[in-house]
Amino acid sequence: MPAPAPTRILGIETSCDETAAAVVARDADGRGTVLSNVVRAQWDQHRAFGGVVPELAARAHVECLDDIVRDAMSDAQMNFADLDGIAVTAGPGLIGGLMVGVMTAEVIARVHTRPLLAINHLEAHALTVGLSEGLKPPYLLLLVSGGHTQLLAVHDVGRYTRLGSTIDDALGEAFDKTAKLLGLCAPGGPAVERAALSGKPGRFPLPMPMHGRPEPNFSFSGLKNAIRLTATAAAPLSDQDIADLCAEFQLAVAGSVADRVRKAFPLAEAAFGTDAPRHLVVAGGVAANQALCAALTDVARAAGYQIHVPPIALCGDNGAMVAWAGAERLARGMIDAPGIVARARWPLDADAKAVLGAGRLGAKA
Ligand code: KG4
Ligand code: ZN
Repeated sequence: MPAPAPTRILGIETSCDETAAAVVARDADGRGTVLSNVVRAQWDQHRAFGGVVPELAARAHVECLDDIVRDAMSDAQMNFADLDGIAVTAGPGLIGGLMVGVMTAEVIARVHTRPLLAINHLEAHALTVGLSEGLKPPYLLLLVSGGHTQLLAVHDVGRYTRLGSTIDDALGEAFDKTAKLLGLCAPGGPAVERAALSGKPGRFPLPMPMHGRPEPNFSFSGLKNAIRLTATAAAPLSDQDIADLCAEFQLAVAGSVADRVRKAFPLAEAAFGTDAPRHLVVAGGVAANQALCAALTDVARAAGYQIHVPPIALCGDNGAMVAWAGAERLARGMIDAPGIVARARWPLDADAKAVLGAGRLGAKA
């Protein structure tokens, strides 16, 4: 008997300042293939304001989403009738942008009578390694993006336990604010990483937040303050000062996050059982940072964990991760009725105690 045809899903992402659409295929064995992946960043619209302006973001999504979807379909050489489902980020994020994506997906799904899949943006990041390398839960997840910093036990699609969270700023936000303070161009994370390449830590010692604390929580607001005070004291800053400060910041961040992840390993073993395979997944925009991943590789190796990071093109916001989360949900019959409601807040672990900083808007400024 011939193998069943792969399911093919269109994914739409508009939760913050990337307008994105993609088509992925999922075969009967659960393997994924990216058929197209189109992303348009909006930094040019927001740069003058020093951060993402929600109203401008929503308008920019309205202006270009139809074209982005059309490009994704034509790159995949498909018509809407060839799709098995339409997946769309329904939260968390900036509500105006989310509504643009949700309305577009609803129209395509209704006109072509295809199943609709409302995707949690954080779940899309969480499951991306299933698309990029076929890794399935259970695994320990470090989710580091512009609006979120969390450690989660990923039991299965739709089943998450939060083990730790930032108590103030998200890690991506700390990168972006550091870049802004040092006069680097947006987007901040890649700019800080690039500057750090020609810098050396040692001249401007910074604190390593939460280091040694027993719970695997994070905090970056004190570090942000420390870098502001250090930069002010050393002003005017030369290019070498900026590079050295960026290297120092990355060292502090990588050391802090690696220490927090180490504290989460026993909690993951308690959640999955000591015999479960030991996988650490790093996802979200900040997972693109090489210094962070190098530090995490060392702690993972020391604890007998294998580390998994999506390719850079799938770390930041994109439609392929949304399509893939949709494919995984469709395979389990987790289809949503028309009339999806966009949600600014939508924690992955609804039972977790509220922590300031967890489940925040995807504000990258
Ligand atoms: O996941 P993402 O694209 O959007 C949200 O869901 O927030 O993450 C964006 C964040 C931004 O704060 C950006 O500066 C950061 O990821 N980022 C990086 C790097 N690339 C993106 N941070 C550090 N190093 C990078 N190479
Ligand atoms: Zn994201």
